[in-house]
Order: sequence, then C-alpha cells, then structure tokens
Amino acid sequence: MSSPSSFFIATPIFYVNDVPHIGHGYTEIAADVLARWNRQNGKDAWLLTGTDEHGQKIQRTAVANGVSPQEWADKLVEDAWLPLLKTLDIANDDFIRTTEERHITAVQKFLTRLYDKGFIYKGEYEGFYCVGCEEYKASADLAEGQAEFEGEKVCPIHGRPVEVLKETNYFFTLSKFQDQLLELYKTRPDFIQPESVRNEIVAFVQRGLDDLSISRAQLEWGIEIPWDADHVTYVWFEALLNYITATGWGSDEETFATRWPAVQLVGKDIARFHAVIWPAMLMAADLEPPARVFAHGWLLVGGEKMSKSKLTGIAPSDITEVFGSDAFRYYFLRAITFGSDGSFSWEDLAARYEAELANGFGNLASRVLSMIARYFDGVVPDPNGELGDADQAIRDTMHKATAVAMDAMERFAINEAIQSIWTIVDELNGYLTEQEPWVLAKSDETRGRLAAVLYTAADGLRALAVLLSPVMPAATAKLWTALNAGEKLGALEGQLLSEAGKSDVLPVGTVVGALEPLFPRIESEG
Ligand code: MSP
Repeated sequence: MSSPSSFFIATPIFYVNDVPHIGHGYTEIAADVLARWNRQNGKDAWLLTGTDEHGQKIQRTAVANGVSPQEWADKLVEDAWLPLLKTLDIANDDFIRTTEERHITAVQKFLTRLYDKGFIYKGEYEGFYCVGCEEYKASADLAEGQAEFEGEKVCPIHGRPVEVLKETNYFFTLSKFQDQLLELYKTRPDFIQPESVRNEIVAFVQRGLDDLSISRAQLEWGIEIPWDADHVTYVWFEALLNYITATGWGSDEETFATRWPAVQLVGKDIARFHAVIWPAMLMAADLEPPARVFAHGWLLVGGEKMSKSKLTGIAPSDITEVFGSDAFRYYFLRAITFGSDGSFSWEDLAARYEAELANGFGNLASRVLSMIARYFDGVVPDPNGELGDADQAIRDTMHKATAVAMDAMERFAINEAIQSIWTIVDELNGYLTEQEPWVLAKSDETRGRLAAVLYTAADGLRALAVLLSPVMPAATAKLWTALNAGEKLGALEGQLLSEAGKSDVLPVGTVVGALEPLFPRIESEG
C-alpha cells in the first residue's frame, strides 16, 4: 500500500480512432488540476494519462484510411493526443500507450495469473457487441433504430446497429465477485462518487453479474492470450490494466508499491468498467482496489453528449487559440459542477472570460501593481501599523477562502474550490473601490493608509497566485514574476496551498515589476 503522502490520479486512456474534442479535454484538465493541487499540498502526486490503441474500432478506422493499425495509432498519438497535453498545459508524469512493450508484457502476466488461479475459463459467447463502445450489450440495453436503421436494434449511445457475435471466448468469472464488490461499496461509502453514480452501480451489482467475455477470436488487433494464440484480449480488459502496467506491476514492484492505488477519474459513461469490472480484476489478482472512482458529467451540446461521431465535437485548440489554456481550464472547472453534466456555449465562455478573468482578476492584478509602481516606485510598502477593520476583513477572507477551498478539493468539488478562491478577487475589488487608494495618494497625511491598502492588496495577489496556480498555471506564473515573490518566497509551485491564506507573507520592500496582460481583450469578429 502506498504512503498517505502519495496521490496517484489517472485519466481514462483515450481511443485513438479520432482526434480529441473538448469532452476529452475536460477529463484531462480536471485530473491535472487535482494532481497539481495535491502536489502543491506537499504530496507525491502522480498523474497518468495515455492512449487506448487496440480493438475493433481502431482496426476498422485504420483499414478505412488505408494504413496499419499501428501506423494509424502512431500518427494520432503524435499529431493529436500528445499535442492535446500541450494545448491544455497538462503536467502529466507519464503517458502510457497500450501498444508499448511494458503494457503488453504485464497484461500477459496478469492474464496468466488469473488463468492459473482459475478465474478464466473457455466458453461460448452469443450476444450483441457495439464497436463504438467496444462493449458487449444485453438486449435490454438496446434501443430501436431510427431512420436508415429502422427495424434494427441499435446501441443507445451511438445510434448504430449492434453486431451479433457468436464465438468461443475466454471468460472472466466476474459473477463470483458480486459479494466482495458489494462489501467494498458498503465498507467504503466514498469509493464511488458522486452519490448518484454510486447508487446506480450498487443497484446494478445487486441485480447480479454475468461472467465477462475477455477475448476475441475474430480480431487481430489486440494482445494475444498467452496460452492461446487464436485469441486476443478484449480491449477493455487490457485497457483497464494500464493503470498498473504503467506503474510497474509485474516488473518494478517497488515503484508499484509506492504508487498504487490510484484515484480513477472517469466520465460517467465508463464508471461501470472502473467501479465493477476493474476492482473485481484486481481482487482476483490479490491486488488492492482503486482508492476511489470519481465520475464526472458530460459536456453537452444541444442537450446531447458532445461527440465526434455525432459531429458535435469542438477541438480544444479552437478555444485555446482564442482564449488561452488558462481560460479553458478555468471556464470548464468553474462553470460546471464537477460530477454533473454541463452545457458549453461560446457566449457563456466569452462572458465569463471578460467579467471574471479580464475585468475581475486580470484588472485587479494590473491595477494594484501599477499603483505600487506609481505611488511607491515599485517597492511593496510597509503597512506600518495602520491597519483597520476593512484590511482585517480581507485577511479574514483570504484565510476562510483557503480553508473552504482545501476542504472542497478534498471532496473533488473543484468548482466550489474555485468559487471560494474567487471571493478573494471579488472582495479585493470591492475593497479598492471603497478605500480609493488613488484618493489616498493625493495627500501626505493619508500615505500610511495608502501603504496599508496597497500592501493588503499585494499580499492578496500573492495568495491568489498560489491558490490559483493549479487551475491557471500560466497567468499565475506571470503574476508571481511581476510580484517578484520568487526572490524571497521561492518558486510558485513550491508554495504550500494550506498556507496560502496566511496574511502578511509578501515581504515588505520587495521590488515589483511590470505585469504582462493576464487575460488580453479578445477582438470580436464583426
Ligand atoms: N478508451 C476508453 C477508456 C479506457 S480506460 C481504461 C474510452 N475512451 S474515450 O476516448 O472514448 O473517452 C475517454 C474519456 O473522455 C471518458 O472519461 C469519457 O467520459 C470522456 N468524454 C468523452 N466525451 C465526453 C463528453 N462529451 N463530455 C465529458 N467527457 C467525455 O472510453
């Protein structure tokens, strides 16, 4: 078991049949913010992401494009999935591709272990399969086809006909794990979050589990079953294993012991795989289940899950090219309650960018820094004991906002945490309007008050840079540089979040510099 100071968080690994859209980007930024937050709390945080490259869907896409599946995967990883991490400023610690040798070897080892322990047997599979989901479907889960597919049974997610499979497969004895899984959910009530997803999964497992087909005979693009070359491993079964194959299971047990178990951050559509099949696989191998499975909601367009296949996909770079990566990260994590669905609209994004980022935070930072430059030659002034109730109120807000944000992030309530941090932005803006430092600057008699106000505001910016750096690493780095806070306090990423709300931390006498615009005005077209 890893130490309490370790925090291993993993995103699902992404299918390489197509390029990323903002729904995929959403999973990435949420995981990245949680990893950065924990890292900045002094934990040994480890963020894993990667790509899911086997299976029928990718094989078919490759064939349709006239290349081999490996060539297709290589191209998509290089041209689309690795660049996504740059576009969104993701600080991942590893990137696993399921076509890598380290994954293939460990998957085969895992399969052998389960086979030897009697958890895998050969049987007949007859049923439906959706290639889009890469999932076996029960007939009760299917919908009636519309338009060109009228009269056919279709997958409710993809709206396309399912395929009928009849083949000899290897099965994993998932049904044997029903009691152990229910026990896990009972003894660890926060194992699956949010509550709505937990309830759905508990009810699903209570209805009883079927054994799971884990091999495909009529498919080539997959990891060979080690004892039977006529079969490849079912893509989900091997994909789930990435979380342990990337962290040393089967090859570097020492590293594995420091990392595992992981927090699994997933979209709600794939919560069942992670909260039912995955822990059962681990139990079968005598390994610990994940630390928790958190299911986030969907980004909706026109009320439906955004997807490329329904042509509603928006590329993350379409947004970052206009607004920047910080705004992307901020917007989706602030505007949507983490765990619920949320609708995306350009209008809402633009409105929040202007009101909250440009006019709220950006303008606050530039005003305070330019007043320190103008009235104190750029030297952070000494508040000199002239502190009153209004200044204390700002200090109280910083303290409280930090405590609330810490608690919210513990619960993965990312939007609540940001909202709480934003009370500092709002209060500071109100404080400047009330205190009118530009009026205080007109008389020598009020110079002490001017110093107190500008010191309070500058130290508030210091706290904001620290608290917001996991969410907006680029803007806060610029602010940290302009505050010249690194000189005495050290690197921004090294500032403990739990201490961020302490007041009067920015050293008096620090010489501040010019601030690059944090959130430049967007020229609207037409
Ligand atoms: N390859 C599997 C996961 C295997 S993990 C062992 C897969 N890949 S995916 O590329 O289809 O999806 C990856 C993630 O993107 C999932 O968490 C999914 O929920 C998320 N999203 C895809 N579309 C989304 C939205 N429209 N909104 C939010 N997240 C969405 O599933």
